[in-house]
Amino acid sequence: MKGRILSRLRAAPEVVSGAVLSSELGVSRVAVWKHIRGLQDCGYVIASSAKGYRLVDSGDPLFAWEFGPRADRIHYHEEAPSTMEIARDLARAGCPHLTVVIAGRQTQGRGRLRRVWHSRDGGLYFTVVLRPQLPTVLSPRINFAASLHLVRTVNELFGIGAQVKWPNDILLGDAKLAGMLSEMEAETDRVAYINVGIGLNVNNDPAADEPGAVSLRKILGRPVARREILAVFLDRLEAGLVGSLDTVIDEWRRCTLTLGRRVRVVTARQVIEGTAEAVDDNGGLRIRQDDGSRTTVIYGDCFLQ
Ligand code: BTN
Repeated sequence: MKGRILSRLRAAPEVVSGAVLSSELGVSRVAVWKHIRGLQDCGYVIASSAKGYRLVDSGDPLFAWEFGPRADRIHYHEEAPSTMEIARDLARAGCPHLTVVIAGRQTQGRGRLRRVWHSRDGGLYFTVVLRPQLPTVLSPRINFAASLHLVRTVNELFGIGAQVKWPNDILLGDAKLAGMLSEMEAETDRVAYINVGIGLNVNNDPAADEPGAVSLRKILGRPVARREILAVFLDRLEAGLVGSLDTVIDEWRRCTLTLGRRVRVVTARQVIEGTAEAVDDNGGLRIRQDDGSRTTVIYGDCFLQ
């Protein structure tokens, strides 16, 4: 009902009377008033007068009802320890493909390789539960698809020329705009679910915690709506996961700044330096070391030199 009231108010810049809302939505005027109060409590600025209601400012809300037909699969938390744990519980309980857990801020946000992901207000922090029909050996393609569609989303919406850095970071120049963490469970040799957690610096100030990071607000010089970014990304990702993922790594290669660059890759067990030569069809990064030897790394943190 909140989503329907908001749509009606957004469709009319002028005041909409309680009587009109009540008859169009098929609920009592008291019920309309209660929902309006609920929306105001959620931060929407709605002017109310004897003539009716007028939406003055929506802010930058990520409530489930803001996502139209996806609302049933959206779980919004103003604050959460980490969206990864909530999504894992939902996935194990059998939630559907493309269930999304969003947090306004995280108190124990996690990055790759056990790093902390600082998650202050204004950033976009979410985990999407995916259930692709895939053998586990092909599961890296899901992460490449997610980073590909995220970079395309921000470039399409803001025209900023962001690129992907192996394995799944989004960068503008050398500054990090987004990071991605994924967790998977398998049944025999098939993927049961892959949870892809994304932290995108939108209206937050990441440089306070991470000097090498940048936000969309900083790049564009204005705040931007997180809801639109997430909605466009989910549409792109959903469409991109239909059918074969045979071309995804090829498409990803066209958006990367890693290849040809001198890199230092830190894995759980070793540090490898050299030139990033190729990303193979399984998503591994092939590095040519200074002695001419070649190593392929499946998972790690890549620093551009
Ligand atoms: C990285 O670059 O190290 C990955 C960062 C992933 C951060 C996101 S924010 C939403 C989700 N919840 C978490 O705790 N981590 C991921």
